[in-house]
Amino acid sequence: MKKIAVYPGSFDPITFGHIDIIERAVTLFDKVIVTVSQNFEKTPWFSVPERCEMIQSSVADLSNCEVDHFKGLLVEYVSRKHATAIIRGLRALSDFEFEFKMALMNRSLAEDITTVFMMPHAKYTHVSSSLVREVAGLGGDVSMLVPAHVAGMLKKKFV
Ligand code: COA
Repeated sequence: MKKIAVYPGSFDPITFGHIDIIERAVTLFDKVIVTVSQNFEKTPWFSVPERCEMIQSSVADLSNCEVDHFKGLLVEYVSRKHATAIIRGLRALSDFEFEFKMALMNRSLAEDITTVFMMPHAKYTHVSSSLVREVAGLGGDVSMLVPAHVAGMLKKKFV
C-alpha cells in the first residue's frame, strides 16, 4: 500500500521553510500532497490559484509531490485522498501549543490519521509568511526567504 501524506497550510506565500519540509517529506512518503487550506483566522493576501501556482513552481522537480487545495475539514480531505498522515512543520517552541491542540483535535476526529511533525533547517526558524509579506511590502529583500518566482509575485502584489 502506498504511503500518502498531506501537508496542509495557508502558504500565503510558500517560503523556503515550507519547501525544506516538503523536501524532507517526499523522502519518507510515496506521495506528498501539498494542499492550500482555509484558516478561518486568516485573511489571505494571495488567491488560492495564486498560492497553488507558487507552490507548483517551487516543487516542480519533485516527482512524488502534488499540489491541491480544499475547503472544509482537514481530516475529511485526508481520508478522501487515502492518506494516513498530516505533515506539519515545527519551527520553534512557540509553534508547539497550537500544533499540539490541532493534532489532538484531528486525532479525536479521525483516529487512523497521524500528524507527523518535522523541523525545518535551523536557518528557517525565524521565517513566516506574514514576515515575508511585511518585508516585501516595505521594499526589503526577500530573496533568501522565498524562491525567485515568489519574490516576483510579491513585488507585483505590492506595486
Ligand atoms: N517554514 C516557514 N514558515 C512556516 C513553516 C516552515 N516550515 N511552517 C509553518 N510556517 C509558518 C507559516 O508561514 C505561517 O505563518 P503566518 O502565520 O505568518 O502566515 C504559520 O507558520 C502557520 O501557518 P501554516 O503552517 O500555513 O498553517 P495555518 O495555521 O495557516 O493553517 C490549517 C492551519 C490550514 C492546516 C488549519 O487551519 C486547518 O486544518 N484548516 C482546515 C479546517 C480544519 O480542519 N480545522 C480543524 C483543525 S483541528
